Amino acid sequence: MIVLGITDSITSGATIVADGRVLAAVSEERLNRQKMAMGFPRQSISEVLRIASLEMKDVDHIAVATNSLFWRPEPTKLEDYFRKSKERSRDLFLASGSFFAKLTNGSPMSRKIYYELKALLTRGRKTKIRDLLAEGWGYRGEVSFIDHHLAHCASAYFTSGMENAVSISLDGAGDGCSSHVYRVENGQFKLLHKIDSYDSVGNYYAYVTHLCGFHAHKHEGKITGLAAYGKPTYVDLLKRYVQYQEGSIHNIGGCFDWSAIRKLESELGPAFKMEDLACSIQWILEDVATKFVQYWVKQSGMSHVALSGGVVANVKLNQRIHALREVKHTFIHPGMGDDGLATGAALFKCFQLCQRAQQPFDRNPINNVYWGPEFSNREIERELDAFGMPYQFHQDIEKRVAGLLADGKIVARFGGRMEYGPRSLGNRSILYQTVDTTVNDWLNKRLKRTEFMPFAPVTVKEYAYQCYTGLEGAELPAKFMTITTDCTEEMAAHCPAVVHIDGTARPQLVDQESNASYYQIVDEYRKITGIPCLVNTSFNMHEEPIVCTPNDALRAFRDGSLDYLAIGNFIVNGPSA
Ligand SMILES: [Fe+2]
Repeated sequence: MIVLGITDSITSGATIVADGRVLAAVSEERLNRQKMAMGFPRQSISEVLRIASLEMKDVDHIAVATNSLFWRPEPTKLEDYFRKSKERSRDLFLASGSFFAKLTNGSPMSRKIYYELKALLTRGRKTKIRDLLAEGWGYRGEVSFIDHHLAHCASAYFTSGMENAVSISLDGAGDGCSSHVYRVENGQFKLLHKIDSYDSVGNYYAYVTHLCGFHAHKHEGKITGLAAYGKPTYVDLLKRYVQYQEGSIHNIGGCFDWSAIRKLESELGPAFKMEDLACSIQWILEDVATKFVQYWVKQSGMSHVALSGGVVANVKLNQRIHALREVKHTFIHPGMGDDGLATGAALFKCFQLCQRAQQPFDRNPINNVYWGPEFSNREIERELDAFGMPYQFHQDIEKRVAGLLADGKIVARFGGRMEYGPRSLGNRSILYQTVDTTVNDWLNKRLKRTEFMPFAPVTVKEYAYQCYTGLEGAELPAKFMTITTDCTEEMAAHCPAVVHIDGTARPQLVDQESNASYYQIVDEYRKITGIPCLVNTSFNMHEEPIVCTPNDALRAFRDGSLDYLAIGNFIVNGPSA
């Protein structure tokens, strides 16, 4: 059973699933080079079909992960909030550019028009998607629409390998909600609870991101890193805005979006300490979300937790959730943000169809997320020649790269299939030693990045327990850099560059089975130096998405900030090498 999943949300993309196995998944941003690209995923649809060597006529069903306020027929708590005053309505108008917000505030007639328009837009959007699929690929088969949070929760559950679990999304907002909680038994989803988008704790994290001078919904990771340097001095203030209460999360501040930002700004005053505010919102998030998850773990009677949604990009929160005594196994979907929606929608629908047709469905945990395109040595060589860069061919490229790294060189690696999700996992990565703590300063400057968390380590899996503690039950997410863990004294002594000020790291455990070539590089480096870890950071140009093609890699490398590029079986010297 072949199902194509698509999402036109932030970040849009497409995924092809065959009998429960992901064949290919790509985000539109990697192809059109616009970070967090939204809209109909034209290029991704064609690309996943190409990667999977399929044509649209081979597709049995298309599952669309929706993301539209217009989808819900009933007024949401958020709409209710905006209906209450003209000022709030103006806020929404300014924030979203939507004139519909104005219609929610006024006479019964204007409200009637609003709901009719909403229904019309819902139908219109569905028709538009069907039209685009017919025009672009001649597809006139079945299309289904899967709720945003159901798609998130399905993405985590079906890739975790868990049989029975509680699957929870924690998000900014999508389809009118910020969270859904499902009890899942043998693939059957039962909705236990949902939280309106008005009550989103993720939104408060975004407001603080904005107040600290960064891009909301994009740079939240910087706040997580910065939090370790501050004190939780604003916790009491923030508690007056968002709280955990009786199995749910509540926005008790009576404000939303710009009005919340303005209110917080005036309460904090102009001289607030950025690191203390970061520390405080991290404290609030961990407190609220951990209590929420704990409640539903107890209620559902499950000890296995599958997590998804933009909020669980917060690796520190995930560590706290995993440390709950009621939780035995934790899994975080590697494409936890909206880039994972297409995968969740496709897996959910594929499971239903396989069950109906009594066909087998692959329920194994994912072993890797190298689901994007790959390029042959011949294709790479053509691009190298076009760029006019001198290069050498190496049969034993892994040993050569390990040697360069042991000599203290920075090496960008481009090889194999591109990673799915927001993290580089070795195939589009920059590698360096973990012994030099100053690397966090000078390499970030060279890459024009502002980071407050140290670089993350890739570690040979066999040495995981020599380096980390508290990983039991979280070995799978640790393959995908979606959780922090405490470091051993040995790790702190030998790899200080990747250990945060609070004694944690967010590792990628690499094994032979999931990526033989990458594993060999790290292991060869270990044989030379005795250290089983390397710095692994994403290979991209400033504010650009992670590189996808050899052309992207060579453009990024040409700016001169790196020593060597290992691309396919070729080594290219940088100007500083
Ligand atoms: Fe989402």
